[in-house]
Amino acid sequence: MEQTAFTDKVALVTGSSRGIGRAIALALARAGADVAVNHSKEGGTSEANAEEVCREIESFGRKAFPVQGDIASKESVKAMFEAVSARLGRLDFLVLNAARAPFKPLEKLREKEIRQLVDTNYIGNIFCIQAAVSMLQASGGKIVFVSSLGSRFYNPSYPLGSMKAAMESVVRDCAESLLPKGIWVNAVCGGIVKTDSFKVLRLYMEEIEHIPDELCVAPEEIADAVVFLCGPGARAIRGQTIVVDNGLSNRLYRPAWIKRQDSK
Ligand SMILES: NC(=O)c1ccc[n+]([C@@H]2O[C@H](COP(=O)([O-])OP(=O)(O)OC[C@H]3O[C@@H](n4cnc5c(N)ncnc54)[C@H](OP(=O)(O)O)[C@@H]3O)[C@@H](O)[C@H]2O)c1
Repeated sequence: MEQTAFTDKVALVTGSSRGIGRAIALALARAGADVAVNHSKEGGTSEANAEEVCREIESFGRKAFPVQGDIASKESVKAMFEAVSARLGRLDFLVLNAARAPFKPLEKLREKEIRQLVDTNYIGNIFCIQAAVSMLQASGGKIVFVSSLGSRFYNPSYPLGSMKAAMESVVRDCAESLLPKGIWVNAVCGGIVKTDSFKVLRLYMEEIEHIPDELCVAPEEIADAVVFLCGPGARAIRGQTIVVDNGLSNRLYRPAWIKRQDSK
């Protein structure tokens, strides 16, 4: 088998059964890593999608297995990391990608929705970090969190933004607190990516449809940044959030769309 940068490395990507997580799992595997593909629910499309991602990874010669785990549940997270240890024997990269949130203004959230928002998108990520520390310490591993522009810009139907802002702060804190253990922590803040969650968001925010494709980002472009942060080229980057948004957030006012001289 071809030797690549991540040969013999193992990644766990939360929420990698579809969307951006799927692209990250595939990109890490293409770079040589074996991958645990996390999905949230037993059975149904959740499990079937994860199995399909694993088949794709195996088709280019890497190991993969689907691992059910709801990150909002401490027991479930514990079992997920035990499964990674038992099946793949180590952990080098933890990618915190899973997210689930209602699309409605904060002031309209019911108590149950507020608790789910925090349980999944803040506490769940911290459960994962805590459960991963010993394995990542053993490997000198990396944690990469997937954030979004909601961490820094208002969107009326996106309460997830405040959780992303909190997590970007956690990324900075953990980069310091986990440094003595040799664990690197960073984040990628994605722009607009046309995944399943975008299809729901556009029902609540029609204007988002009018953002030209040239200002959106492909899942693979987020994945490339995650792979970079996991690799040796990012050895001097710690506690940072790298924005990957095709320049969408550079301007408050965009008088006319200037077509990019595309380098892709
Ligand atoms: N789409 C965008 O425009 C955009 C932009 C920037 C950043 N992001 C961020 O990128 C990440 C992925 O977004 P996406 O658009 O690809 O999302 P998506 O298509 O909705 O997929 C979400 C993934 O997370 C999993 N998941 C949800 N709740 C979970 C839980 N409690 N435990 C474990 N897994 C769970 C889902 O698993 P199942 O298949 O089992 O449901 C699925 O694999 C999120 O953190 C999101 O905030 C998205």
